[in-house]
Amino acid sequence: MDGNGRWALSNSLNISKGHQKGVQVVKDIVQESVQQKISSLTLYAFSSENWSRPKAEIEAIKKLVLTAIEEQVPELIEQKVKLTFFGRHDDFGKKISKKIKEAEFNTNTSEPSLNLNVALGYGGRQDIVDLTKNISSRVLAKEINIDDINEEMVSNSSCVPEDKIDLLIRTGGDKRISNFLLYQIAYAEIFFIDKFWPDFEKDDFISCINKFNKVSRRFGARI
Ligand code: FPP
Repeated sequence: MDGNGRWALSNSLNISKGHQKGVQVVKDIVQESVQQKISSLTLYAFSSENWSRPKAEIEAIKKLVLTAIEEQVPELIEQKVKLTFFGRHDDFGKKISKKIKEAEFNTNTSEPSLNLNVALGYGGRQDIVDLTKNISSRVLAKEINIDDINEEMVSNSSCVPEDKIDLLIRTGGDKRISNFLLYQIAYAEIFFIDKFWPDFEKDDFISCINKFNKVSRRFGARI
């Protein structure tokens, strides 16, 4: 969801207004994902590197996360959307941690229309370090053998709820991954969109999905 800051500056607005508009777009894209019967949507809301931003911006994002949860959870429940946060979200303080736990509990359902995963305080490299430590300690404790380590175990030891990402969309014009889902995007189709996230519309999303559906995915095989 890149480009909130540049969108705000290009409209002579405070950066936090860009993030506010960004949350409205999240709402539209979640609704459209349900319409399109997409099984899961994973959003990068705050990276481990975003902690180096100005304190005022971080505080504005924290407030926004709180109000977004408060305002949107009733609608998510109605739409049967299951919300999961991943990453070091405990670093956001007790108030947000409590809201996250409540939101996850209240949206938990056995047959969700959509799994909505939000990365908060997440970094792909940090996740790989953490899961390596976790698996290593299990080997040291003799709970598992080295040869038990396989792709499935690595996926299951990651904090990321999805193990294989099909389509990655980055708005804002930059053509890089920026530490997002490094292990899980091995065979993802990657779309870089020039529009800033606050200008990203349902039709842009539908156009990405239509293009994705036309891609021949070979996963390294000759077909
Ligand atoms: C990237 O734009 C956006 C962010 C770092 C924050 C996005 C967070 C939200 C929209 C809150 C979402 C909350 C929930 C619960 C889904 P940028 O600021 O890096 O843009 P720039 O590159 O133009 O500066």
